[in-house]
Amino acid sequence: MTISYEGQVAIVTGAGNGLGRSHALELAKRGAKVVVNDLGGARDGSGASSDAAQEVVRLIEEAGGEAFAHGANVAKFDEVQDMVQQAMDKWGRVDILINNAGILRDKSFAKMDLADFQLVMDVHVMGTVNCTKAVWDIMREQNYGRIVVTTSSSGMYGNFGQSNYGAAKMAVLGFMNTLVLEGAKNNIHVNALAPTAGTRMTEDLMPPEIYNMLTAESVTAGALTLCHKDSPTRMILCAGAGGYASTRLFETDGIFLPEAQQTPEQVLENWEGVCDTSNQSELESGAKQSEKFLTKAMAYVQSQQ
Ligand code: NAI
Repeated sequence: MTISYEGQVAIVTGAGNGLGRSHALELAKRGAKVVVNDLGGARDGSGASSDAAQEVVRLIEEAGGEAFAHGANVAKFDEVQDMVQQAMDKWGRVDILINNAGILRDKSFAKMDLADFQLVMDVHVMGTVNCTKAVWDIMREQNYGRIVVTTSSSGMYGNFGQSNYGAAKMAVLGFMNTLVLEGAKNNIHVNALAPTAGTRMTEDLMPPEIYNMLTAESVTAGALTLCHKDSPTRMILCAGAGGYASTRLFETDGIFLPEAQQTPEQVLENWEGVCDTSNQSELESGAKQSEKFLTKAMAYVQSQQ
């Protein structure tokens, strides 16, 4: 089976460098028309330049593909809307959105300015929200859409010096979980990619031999499985150095305590039962948790009658 994107239109944010560049090149190679978005700033988000995005467009066109560059700052909704409008004017649809643009402003929380926290949230969280909002109605109307958010192991598990980045990367998963539910009836699938790659974002964090194993292309192979027509939805796919895994959120079955025992002492006393993973499950929405607790409470009430 060959995965093709022939006839599809894709927007890849932050596609001038690193992972976004690799995603854009591979999508174009497989037939997609691509909007190569990039603000062209430095790793910390300062500055702007269209050079990197233009170079990616040049490479796509040289290989016989179709693309245009757009310098929208994803944190600014009006600029994002302009980008999406240009894609609609040129190609009439948007099938794929890969929310990839990102920056770093690392510091321990004690030393971090709130401005550095806010900027990282603006680019990763509001950037993802803005781009998704700008394509959402289009995808709903065409009854088709594939959206990828880019999370990180730093968000899912924590990383020293990245409280801002970690908060932002976990936030996009919360965003995904609800959009999965709201997009389902219009065939909109939303998935998350958790990459590990040697890019300018990580180059000073690892020795060259490791950096060279962590290719962007190995991550892109995973990214493309999240945005093709038979893609899953609500998947968190981790990819790096040729390794592919899925992070999943499970909840233990838990315990029920009758009213007289609903005290901190009793909760602690039953900690083993609270944490027992033997009957854990994946919940498909928040309501399923309330349902589980209420089922246990009702069973108790009935047992007392
Ligand atoms: P990169 O720094 O090589 O590329 C990011 C691109 O986003 C740059 O071209 C930059 O100009 C663009 N960008 C930044 N702010 C923007 C804005 N406001 N509007 C439009 N474009 C903007 O970084 P890399 O490594 O390719 O990262 C891509 C994504 O993957 C990011 O979301 C990052 O957080 C995530 N990630 C990367 C990991 C890695 O190991 N490289 C690990 C986990 C997540």
